[in-house]
Amino acid sequence: MSRLLRILLVFLILAVPFVARCQPTGSPAGGIERRIDSLMAKMTLEEKIGQLTQYSPTVEQSGGKSALSPAQLALVREGKVGSYLNVTGATLTREIQRTAITESRLKIPIMFGLDVIHGFRTVFPIPLGEASTWEPDLIRKAARTAALEATAAGIHWTFGPMVDIARDPRWGRIAEGSGEDPYLGSLMAVACVQGFQGDDLALTTSMVACPKHFAAYGGAEGGRDYNVVDISERTLREIYLPPFESAVRAGAGTIMCSFNEIAGTPSTANRQLLTDILRGEWGFDGFVVSDWGSIGELQAHGVASSLAEAASLAITAGTDMDMESKAYPTHLADLVKSGTVAERTVDDAVRRVLRIKYRLGLFDDPYHGCSVEREQTEILSAAHRALARDVARRSIVLLKNASNTLPLRKDSRTIAVIGPLAESRKDPLGPWDAMGRSEDVVSVLDGIRKSAGPRTTVLYAKGCEIDSTATAGFSAAIDAASRADAVVLVVGESSSMSGEAASRSSLALPGNQEDFVKAVAATGKPVVVVLLNGRPLAIPWIAEHIPAILEAWFPGVETGNAVADVIFGEYNPSGKLPVTFPRTVGQVPIYYNHKNTGRPGDARERFTSRYIDLPLTPLFPFGYGLSYTTFACGKPVLTPSEITGSDSVIVSVELSNRGDRAGEEVVQVYVRDDVASVTRPVKELKAFQKVALKPGETKRVSFTIPARALAMESREMKRVVEPGSFTVFVGTNSDETQSTTFTVVGGAAVR
Ligand code: GLC
Repeated sequence: MSRLLRILLVFLILAVPFVARCQPTGSPAGGIERRIDSLMAKMTLEEKIGQLTQYSPTVEQSGGKSALSPAQLALVREGKVGSYLNVTGATLTREIQRTAITESRLKIPIMFGLDVIHGFRTVFPIPLGEASTWEPDLIRKAARTAALEATAAGIHWTFGPMVDIARDPRWGRIAEGSGEDPYLGSLMAVACVQGFQGDDLALTTSMVACPKHFAAYGGAEGGRDYNVVDISERTLREIYLPPFESAVRAGAGTIMCSFNEIAGTPSTANRQLLTDILRGEWGFDGFVVSDWGSIGELQAHGVASSLAEAASLAITAGTDMDMESKAYPTHLADLVKSGTVAERTVDDAVRRVLRIKYRLGLFDDPYHGCSVEREQTEILSAAHRALARDVARRSIVLLKNASNTLPLRKDSRTIAVIGPLAESRKDPLGPWDAMGRSEDVVSVLDGIRKSAGPRTTVLYAKGCEIDSTATAGFSAAIDAASRADAVVLVVGESSSMSGEAASRSSLALPGNQEDFVKAVAATGKPVVVVLLNGRPLAIPWIAEHIPAILEAWFPGVETGNAVADVIFGEYNPSGKLPVTFPRTVGQVPIYYNHKNTGRPGDARERFTSRYIDLPLTPLFPFGYGLSYTTFACGKPVLTPSEITGSDSVIVSVELSNRGDRAGEEVVQVYVRDDVASVTRPVKELKAFQKVALKPGETKRVSFTIPARALAMESREMKRVVEPGSFTVFVGTNSDETQSTTFTVVGGAAVR
């Protein structure tokens, strides 16, 4: 053998272990299915059902150490636990995993799941705030940060992103999603899946995503959580499914089905949804987990006469894993033995669960690289807090700024920070705050105090409660306001007023907060209202009488620093509303991508679609948000003006910064199918770009809109691009746009 060949051989022998170490710890490429086959061949029916079972155990604390109960540990040893949720921490999860892989018969690792929705311990703004950035790349980084922290603590699986489109702000879970638009919602869904899952699930910093709640959970009648969703298949496919389809095509490894029914069939038992669409049309090969006890709830829905029947309906429809209803561990074995459920059905579900565990690399590294050392390095690091601050300030929407009240001067003599949420450190975390802690939060008061100039006096008074009629605190707050040069008034909702099971019948500020705002405004001082809330609020009096209004949502651990950055002009606000603000709850549902009807609303015409006691328009429209500078958006130019069903049209527009301060603007492109075989929305968001401009700078911004983006569900429920005229609207919110038209010739079938 030549010398060169010998050297090469030696190198290869030495290099292999090194290369192997650089590989993700997952299973060797390919061969996962074969490894599943060989494992399943050894499994008993009970062990298979164990993989389809998830528990949220009570973790017993003793002497600072937490542990599972002996009964739970016995289930682990018997191979009857496929996954735990709400068990976190490298030490505890490693301890449980060690039991599973050393003391159970087949040593199948457990998946640990948690609701990491907008951060693990470094809590970012609620998703409605994240969506207000209109910056998917930024939100991908936030999700990546959440994964770094969660995986350090032993989490393999997050029950997120929540991608439910919401058009009804009475629904408390509007806080957890990306608002009313399928296009923005789809981009945010993909950003979170990619951020959570990283480049390879087997990397120790990756955790598997779980887009939820499949599907149309946000369409609940009356905005009442868990309520009936009765929508057409066309609305389901055009409004509620797109973010899920995008998330699946981005590689999401799991899906969570929703509590609600859709037109008579609960999602948990909806085969058309969970199998025909999810797997048949979209090619999803991961697994579906129920939402909490949604399998058992099939009985309350009235479609199952027993827990056993519920189990049969759910597994047959395509719900693979049972979270907490105990239906599968209690009844599935008997259902198989009696022939009610084919063992093949169980096998298919088990295969899908094992596939995700293999892709996570858990059979090669059951601990997925978690450790106390990683927790200490990753969790709440300075870099993570810095990112949280940037996301938070970019999530803030400037709703009004009359007479350039904002930004406030840092050398103001006296600033009064008042209101029931000014000092709060719990509420800014928002709902679903995972492992967030109040002591980590910078309150608005903290932030203003830290950022104000050394000679500025910052006064504080709470003034009133979030939800009370008490006025005892008014006078101290009015006194503080009277002594100040400017007032920062922090009002809104508590974090428990949105999120799950938190539907409100009113959209007004809770309690007597509006009276309090009026009393403070009566001092005549310049007032800046900062809203901390989880849903659009109907604030017409504030919108009319208060000179400056910031919608801050629940901005997370860096709340105070982010609000102060915007208030003092360190950051020029660039957020845009991902959801319409109604004038009153009576306008709901109100959303920008509505149909025209045969009698489009016209305030001048009685017999048109409108209310006789309210203007037609919302308080603030979808896509709305101001800046400390002024932007001008020109008329859109299209090339070409005629395309086929497989072409694209280029839309371009000039954007200028007419003010004296640098800033960012979100140029938005909407399209209307002017005439189609079915009615179409008056506008649909198809593209957007956030553009940074220096004072006086002008840029030409271009967008490529492929014809397939114009696809719709035909009368026959086929996805098609129909020929005809289309109008393009371009502007800086959904209401103020300039338009031009183009034509599609020929059309095309998409599905
Ligand atoms: C809840 C929520 C769901 C969450 C799950 C686990 O009921 O509906 O979003 O992921 O239970 O906490």
